[in-house]
Amino acid sequence: MRYLFSILLVPLVFAIFPVKLSADEGMWLPVLISERIDDMKAKGFRLDAEDIYSINQASLKDAVVLFNGGCTGELISNQGLLLTNHHCGYGAIQCHSSVEHDYLKDGFWAMSLDEELPNDGLWVSFLIRMEDVTDAVLQGYDSSMDEARRDSLVRANSAAIEARAMAEGPSYQASVESMYYGNQYFLFVYQKFDDVRLVGAPPSSVGKFGGDTDNWMWPRHTGDFSIFRIYADKDNNPAAYSEDNVPYRPKKFFKISTAGVNEGDFTFVYGFPGSTQEYVHSDAIGYIEEMNPKKIALRDGRLEIMKKYMSADQDVRIRYSSKQANVANAWKKWQGELKGLIKLETRSVKKESEKAFTEWALSGGHDEYAGVIEELSRLYAQVRPYSYAMDYYVESLNGVDAFRFAMNVGRYIGLNGTEGLADYAEAFFKDYYYPIDEEIFIFTADRFMEDVPDEFKPEYLKEEFTRLGSTAAVADSVFAVSIFTDREKTLALAALDSAKAMEAVASDPLYRLADSFYAEYAALSGPAMEINRRIALMNRTYMRGQMEFDSEKAFYPDANLTLRVSYGEVAGFEPSDGIEYLPVSTLEGIIEKDNPDIFDYDIPQKLRDLYAAKDYGRWETEGTVPVCFLATNHTSGGNSGSPVINADGNLVGVNFDRVWEGTMSDLDFDPELCRNISLDIRYVLFIIDKYAGARNLMDEIVFAD
Ligand code: ARG
Ligand code: GLU
Repeated sequence: MRYLFSILLVPLVFAIFPVKLSADEGMWLPVLISERIDDMKAKGFRLDAEDIYSINQASLKDAVVLFNGGCTGELISNQGLLLTNHHCGYGAIQCHSSVEHDYLKDGFWAMSLDEELPNDGLWVSFLIRMEDVTDAVLQGYDSSMDEARRDSLVRANSAAIEARAMAEGPSYQASVESMYYGNQYFLFVYQKFDDVRLVGAPPSSVGKFGGDTDNWMWPRHTGDFSIFRIYADKDNNPAAYSEDNVPYRPKKFFKISTAGVNEGDFTFVYGFPGSTQEYVHSDAIGYIEEMNPKKIALRDGRLEIMKKYMSADQDVRIRYSSKQANVANAWKKWQGELKGLIKLETRSVKKESEKAFTEWALSGGHDEYAGVIEELSRLYAQVRPYSYAMDYYVESLNGVDAFRFAMNVGRYIGLNGTEGLADYAEAFFKDYYYPIDEEIFIFTADRFMEDVPDEFKPEYLKEEFTRLGSTAAVADSVFAVSIFTDREKTLALAALDSAKAMEAVASDPLYRLADSFYAEYAALSGPAMEINRRIALMNRTYMRGQMEFDSEKAFYPDANLTLRVSYGEVAGFEPSDGIEYLPVSTLEGIIEKDNPDIFDYDIPQKLRDLYAAKDYGRWETEGTVPVCFLATNHTSGGNSGSPVINADGNLVGVNFDRVWEGTMSDLDFDPELCRNISLDIRYVLFIIDKYAGARNLMDEIVFAD
């Protein structure tokens, strides 16, 4: 009976529900979403293209912001309330924290508007519109031009287009971005808001639960969210911080769905992925495989040094928490990425398809592509020593805080004189700790001397090493005596007149070292730039060729921190043989991991109490509270904080991470292994409601169901 029943039911079910989906590769441009909307609807979406992106009516894009130039955020009330990740608000939360008011440790909740905390330098921007401007950008171009001339033409035309767009409205910003390696150009017009205040953040034991151990991993239980509010002037226009500013009234905000998600449900992530390279030549992958281990090893060393001092002193822990988290984040990602590339055999798979591509090109009619693969190989080999030296420098000495600071102060005085320098210095020294930085200097200088060929070492560095004999001795006579490793000395510098200050800077040994790198690497960048130009030209041709070669495939441009739509479904995966991951985690897992003896797993007592009393309120689901979920949306760094939207356009989650086994998706997306990790909105609400008791926020948020 059951058998018969299911046979009869099968065709019906298929007619109503779309066929089982595979993971969905692609980060689509919102303005072109009508090309994808049928597929989205087939997978369960119930809104139209105009609901996602429109210039005629308020659409979902009006509820999404680029948050501080590196994350995404979404509006969740008609009073400018904004949701993003804890790790995106981290810098701001840390900035307001001290040993006495440790908002990182204890969390922060403004119970009324006047308790909200302003943040110097924090901004968000809304996308007003985007448009294809390829023809205008290439106006005046003819194919006899070399790359350098094409570059300057593109730059000049883009600047004119941007200037026109910026004049269209208050605080408008505009940028022309290249897509498909310069085969297409799009204009993005934004409106930027500078008064963004901190409203709420859970303690790090919730917002960063699991720390670097759980980062990039599933099963995950991190309550990675924080809440801000955008303020505007009385006319609802952007304005610098002022007491007179009022909450911004957005064109659109997300309603929250408390219905939750189940395996197979449609999900849609709307945000700003930063950078992917899905179409590169196999040798570019080879370079990443060569470089990742070196960069990882350099960060191993830096992290160990930070950890030693941070675990010994609470004040140092606060000061270095944000820096440490940044260093650790990419460090772990690169490890996963490397494993993924090896597992997928990305390089050899690409080599195979490059062979097929060349055969196709040679087979007639596609002559312009015939030599592209080989030429790219040649160029990548040529540029390799330069890239190696630059990348090595970035991950070594450039990771020394005082080294960068010395350079920056030199530039600062060059531009502004010493006015304001004292504040600039105070901001730097607030989060500075000499013993860490000195040790990092010694470690990275050592590695640099050892691993980088002589021709890429600045003369001044070589001379100092020859003269003094060891890195420790260089540290003593460069680092220890520098103005820039000492707050008092820097403040004294700031009190001088500009000419005297500049003189002092120019004779400072650390400044001289930093400057020698700067000069040397600027000189190096000449030949490197020339090769990179030719690589850019070849990549443009290769990209066009790939699109012709595989004309059936729907292409999407690589991520470049412009607004994108990714869609997929809630789904678990098999990270390796014999393991299957479920797509949903719950409060039970937090309690399982809870351990007062381990800093990253020591949850607040209040959370333990709520659990013991099963005091979950309306956030109770099947006897517990859902915390995170996995889905198949194609995301990248920058998608942190992105709204995760259900079939009806309501908010069900906040994107914050990817699974470690899938981090190669920036280079090679594998539907079986690549998953994004989102925070279930019901956990966010549980924390706001039951943990923080922030009634003001609960009253402000609008529920869809
Ligand atoms: N992996 C996430 C991202 O790439 C979260 C990083 C913040 N958390 C941390 N433990 N460092 O940004
Ligand atoms: N946590 C990342 C971010 O800050 C998102 C994770 C990813 O790279 O996908 O953007």
